[in-house]
Amino acid sequence: MNKVIILNEETIKELLDIKNVIKVVEQAYTLKNSDQADLFPIITHIFEPGKADMDIKSGHLKGNANIFGLKLVSWFGENIKKNLPDVIGTIMIFDGKTGIPLGILSGEHITCMRTGSAGAVGSKYLARKDSETLLMVGAGHQAFFQIAAALTVLNQIKKVMVYDPIDYKFAVDFCNKAKLRLKNEILSKYKDDKILAKKYDIDFVATGDIEKSTGEADIIITATPSYKPLIKEGWVKKGTHFTCIGADMEGKQEIDENIFSMARIFVDDLEQASHVGETEIPLKKGVIKKEDIAGEIGEVILGTKPGRLSDDEITIFDSTGIAHQDLLTATYTIKIAQEKGLGTIVKL
Ligand SMILES: NC(=O)c1ccc[n+]([C@@H]2O[C@H](COP(=O)([O-])OP(=O)(O)OC[C@H]3O[C@@H](n4cnc5c(N)ncnc54)[C@H](O)[C@@H]3O)[C@@H](O)[C@H]2O)c1
Repeated sequence: MNKVIILNEETIKELLDIKNVIKVVEQAYTLKNSDQADLFPIITHIFEPGKADMDIKSGHLKGNANIFGLKLVSWFGENIKKNLPDVIGTIMIFDGKTGIPLGILSGEHITCMRTGSAGAVGSKYLARKDSETLLMVGAGHQAFFQIAAALTVLNQIKKVMVYDPIDYKFAVDFCNKAKLRLKNEILSKYKDDKILAKKYDIDFVATGDIEKSTGEADIIITATPSYKPLIKEGWVKKGTHFTCIGADMEGKQEIDENIFSMARIFVDDLEQASHVGETEIPLKKGVIKKEDIAGEIGEVILGTKPGRLSDDEITIFDSTGIAHQDLLTATYTIKIAQEKGLGTIVKL
């Protein structure tokens, strides 16, 4: 009989802190680009169009981690009416030496933390070091974790502007709650970290004018499910860095494809980004060719490809979300749960 650890949302929230997840995600990217990780094709199934679907992202991490596994995310839109969550993620981790299951974890908080961390890694390696103004496009679940992780790795941010494409009031509400959430959900893990406390103690401003805010921003993070560009080419100033999160399915698009023709482009995974990421539409419309993509973020971290080449350059990180982020974060969560004696052990 195999012993498997089960970790629920509550325990995962208690265990994970943003600084360590950023390190884990950075490691996942470097493993990928040092031939230490395989990514398997995504499986997608639509049960009923517009009502229910699911996808499975999976992969194998070799080296010290030596695990394989998957995250299954299902979306059942009508669950809301039944007072149930509409998006449900479940992660399964297996031992790479024996194939034995090691853990089953709830995927929601891990997804938020690893996605925020991915965005932050993009900004850390590609944004100008003197970036002071961040524009967050989208004010939903991911937006909070994007901002929290970005502020953690960046040192000069003075203002965060938040834009909600659906309703300005959502952005106002988000900004009103942002500092308290940062304090309670992120900073509470680092009681005496005055540097981090200072980084989080900045201005959060809701904006209804995305054109003006785009022109002001040094870094723009997009995290909406949009299928049409929200940011036009002519609005973007020199030296801007984009981290694109929202596009993770065929057809989704958040920024004007023409921005790609004037940018240095990095992705998390070339294949995935070309099919389901922000890079998909510019490639399909012929604005760029695959050769125009400068590389994968793991190569920049490893130093095998240069990131930003000048202060004037526009950079893009297309972060589609790869299985390795989930698998390594889940493995890290299992390790600390075992150290602290948390979680439920089940004999399968
Ligand atoms: N790349 C990754 O690793 C990754 C991980 C998780 C989520 N995502 C994607 O990020 C996006 C945002 O996820 P979330 O969990 O924050 O969603 P959410 O529903 O919590 O928030 C979505 C935000 O976008 C706005 N919005 C809703 N519909 C819109 C539309 N049609 N056009 C423009 N804006 C719209 C909402 O008002 C809100 O501000 C989704 O597309 C999701 O699939 C990507």
